[in-house]
Amino acid sequence: MTASKLVKPNIEFKESYIEAIEEFHAEGRYQFLDAEELDKNFEQFVGDLNSGKRHLHKKYADWVEPVPETALWLVKGHHYIGTLNIRHRLNWHLEKWGGHANFVIRPSMRGKGFGKKILQKGMPFICYLGIDRALLTVSPKNKPAIRIIEFCGGKFEDETPETDKFPARQRYWLECC
Ligand SMILES: CC(C)(COP(=O)(O)OP(=O)(O)OC[C@H]1O[C@@H](n2cnc3c(N)ncnc32)[C@H](O)[C@@H]1OP(=O)(O)O)[C@@H](O)C(=O)NCCC(=O)NCCS
Repeated sequence: MTASKLVKPNIEFKESYIEAIEEFHAEGRYQFLDAEELDKNFEQFVGDLNSGKRHLHKKYADWVEPVPETALWLVKGHHYIGTLNIRHRLNWHLEKWGGHANFVIRPSMRGKGFGKKILQKGMPFICYLGIDRALLTVSPKNKPAIRIIEFCGGKFEDETPETDKFPARQRYWLECC
């Protein structure tokens, strides 16, 4: 049986990624990605992701200080399973609300342990990017994500309270090196 692995976004996973986007759309995620457009321009899309251009769909708000990012895909055989985004450093907003990394598993593949795998397998990549200790932030209601972060060794720091603009977030530190 093939093991899952983390790879750079790659056109090999086009069909499966577009299917996953349709699953994500059904739960309100990635609405800015259009399946037909992706089908036409997948090579360009993957090229943009690999060169760190993740936010082409809309201009950042004025207060955002963009930081370099790396996107990795968890795949198994020819199938896309999920995405890990790693920010190379924090800014004031990521320090409280976004953290160094976030991960998502396509809805049809949840509950099979891939959430734990994507973070576990991502830790050496985070370390390789020069982040010894990664900040992960999570909604206090997101029990599966909290289980994953704690399973990987994440240590609870505190909770950033909800504001007018931003939701509450629990902050965890994860030793990656
Ligand atoms: C969070 C997410 C990545 C979990 O992915 P997954 O593949 O289902 O995770 P796993 O199968 O590895 O399960 C992780 C743990 O969550 C638990 N879990 C799964 N669904 C759960 C639920 N509804 N309530 C409570 N615990 C749950 C599992 O039992 C498992 O814990 P255990 O094995 O120690 O008992 C996935 O739900 C997702 O993509 N959510 C949307 C994006 C998101 O919230 N990302 C996290 C940002 S930090």
